[in-house]
Amino acid sequence: MMVRHLVTIDDLSEAEIQAIFSLADEFLASMPSPGSPHRIRGCLPLADQFVLATLFYEASTRTRFSFETAMIRLGGHVLSSADPKTTSAAKGETIADTVRVLQNYADVIVIRHPCEGAVKVASEYSDVPIINAGDGGHEHPTQTLCDLYTLQREKGSLKNLNVLLWGDLKNGRTVHSLVYGLARFGARIIPLPAEGFGLPEHVTRRLLRDYDCVPLSNDELIDAGTDKFPVDVVYVTPEKPHQRSLFSDVKEKGTDVLRVRLPHNALSKIDACYVTRLQRERMPGDASAENYPMVDTEFLKDRRYRHSSVMHPLPRVTELGYDLDDDARAVYFKQASYGVPVRMALIAALLQIKPDVLGAVPPKKRHSLFARSTVHCDNPNCVTGLETEQRYLTPKFLVIIEDERLTIRCQYCEHESIPEFIGRSSTKKYEPNRMRWESLPDDITLFTDEAAAIAAGYQPYKQRLKV
Ligand code: CP
Repeated sequence: MMVRHLVTIDDLSEAEIQAIFSLADEFLASMPSPGSPHRIRGCLPLADQFVLATLFYEASTRTRFSFETAMIRLGGHVLSSADPKTTSAAKGETIADTVRVLQNYADVIVIRHPCEGAVKVASEYSDVPIINAGDGGHEHPTQTLCDLYTLQREKGSLKNLNVLLWGDLKNGRTVHSLVYGLARFGARIIPLPAEGFGLPEHVTRRLLRDYDCVPLSNDELIDAGTDKFPVDVVYVTPEKPHQRSLFSDVKEKGTDVLRVRLPHNALSKIDACYVTRLQRERMPGDASAENYPMVDTEFLKDRRYRHSSVMHPLPRVTELGYDLDDDARAVYFKQASYGVPVRMALIAALLQIKPDVLGAVPPKKRHSLFARSTVHCDNPNCVTGLETEQRYLTPKFLVIIEDERLTIRCQYCEHESIPEFIGRSSTKKYEPNRMRWESLPDDITLFTDEAAAIAAGYQPYKQRLKV
């Protein structure tokens, strides 16, 4: 069986996620803490032959400690680095070299890194499982496992749950993994960002394109009896992608227009309110939290929140009132506690201690891959922009064609770019972005605008000029 890694939530199928949850349930049931059913006590003799390394280049309380206690409670051993200054990264060692060395000492490696895509790089150079404990503002897939597990235990099922996402949806990596997970399990996603902190465009594009979500606008929400609800859009997942046609009931200019109708008052009850803090560490300069809103008992007085589970990946700062701590709806400490059984299950699965949890290969990616030294990721926080990593990394991209236009998604940080113009370095000619090749030519160059093409010494195709 090939080594499995967990870099993004898409590295696990829905069936595998549910199998991890079942195993976490087993650990919780068999290792109970008297009086605290969400907490695990004691140790099992399952992983005594194995060592887990935690390599954290960014601060953490929950993720690192819960991974380490999970390994110890499985009977395994732990190597820990909580401070990058104490590893040879401080001397300029690359990610690739670090993991190629660490794999000699540990059987599984958990990495947190400030750069988006850094853990993907590690996974390409490791022959032991690599687990992403958060890479910049990209993803935090094990937090998503804890979030989905908490929701499922609280509500019984994830399907058709109304989940309000609140706060910094732009920079919060936990939110980015979570929306994909919610969409895949058929929950409704209700973004309520702080002003200027909405979901990144590439994340919403991906919700629509890759997860078959349908965005319902405010007008459509009002049709569903949800007047006065202060959100702009709700993302709804049809039952199954192939059932999209069932909803296509309107013809507009000869094409089917997708219509999804929510049952009347479908949003009158919010099942979970997922609160996130302002991610200051992802923002330039001194970010102000002055206008950042707060969720507290006052906010939750609205009757639609009467049965909402209040969740937060933690740590909290000022966005979640301490007055909620004794409220029965507050589940954020339970959510943090579930980090142990969930991570025990994940470690046991990746190390094949429990061989039936994961399939032999990861779920298939939807888009084909290309690597070109002439094309670079335009995300300034992508790992491919790091000088140390540029010594050996070739940028790689997934190719997505939509309406004949080329979109590329960085294989590492997963940011997407849609160039306005495409050039060929062999001819030094450029033309508008229209995908007319079977596969991308080797010498392709992408330009954000025409001025960039001209500045690079390219000329327009004559053919295009006539158009
Ligand atoms: N939720 C979470 O990732 O917490 P830490 O940053 O403390 O690990």
